[in-house]
Amino acid sequence: MGETVRLQKFIAMSGIASRRAAETMIGEGRVAVNGKKVTEQGIKVEIGADNVVVDGEPVKIKNKNYYIMLNKPIGYVSTVSDQFDRPTVVDLVKKDLGNVRIFPVGRLDYDTEGLLLLTNDGDFTYKVTHPKFHMDKTYIAVVKGGMTVSGINKLRNGVYIDDGFKTSPAQAEIIDAYDGHTYVKITIHEGKNRQVRKMFEAVGNTVVGLQRIKIGNVELGNLPLGRWRHLTSHEIGYMQGK
Ligand code: URA
Repeated sequence: MGETVRLQKFIAMSGIASRRAAETMIGEGRVAVNGKKVTEQGIKVEIGADNVVVDGEPVKIKNKNYYIMLNKPIGYVSTVSDQFDRPTVVDLVKKDLGNVRIFPVGRLDYDTEGLLLLTNDGDFTYKVTHPKFHMDKTYIAVVKGGMTVSGINKLRNGVYIDDGFKTSPAQAEIIDAYDGHTYVKITIHEGKNRQVRKMFEAVGNTVVGLQRIKIGNVELGNLPLGRWRHLTSHEIGYMQGK
């Protein structure tokens, strides 16, 4: 059984009238539930199951949309449930959001951390993940050892991964080097499986740490690891406008 609410609340949630005005409509005999006129106040209806009609027009409750940014830690899978019972990114959000059904927008590997979006809005997911929208994704890759200028240039021009797939030109720059590691900021807009790791392998380097810091112009900022926040209306509008 789904969530049940009082009839006047149901009508108010649909946006067609305030709760008080909905009570008046019920009193006036303008409301029917499952084909039967209702004039008594306070009966309960089940969202998504009962059929509510006002003045002969069906009343529907729009699903509230959620747009969430998570700072995914290593050791979580980017799915709703896992066949090996590993912790999922949805587990990290569900604790606070309760029963809302949300899904990861694309994926980060089990051993990648950083910015992951989650939503229950399929159109939004499409805009962020479909290659035709060329949504840039920026990562910091921690590479074992040094990196040559020629390696960086190859990443910028595109390299061959996955039996002959040539990656599109990427932005790549060395941002730091210490303790035997090189830190490279890289931006790509494609989303092949383990693409960043494979691109570095293709130029002879091994990625030992990977963090996503940005999607489009939406940045992870200083959101702590394992924590989430709602996207701002500005960020949602930017993604939807792509
Ligand atoms: N590229 C990778 O190699 N891994 C990710 O998780 C994302 C991009």
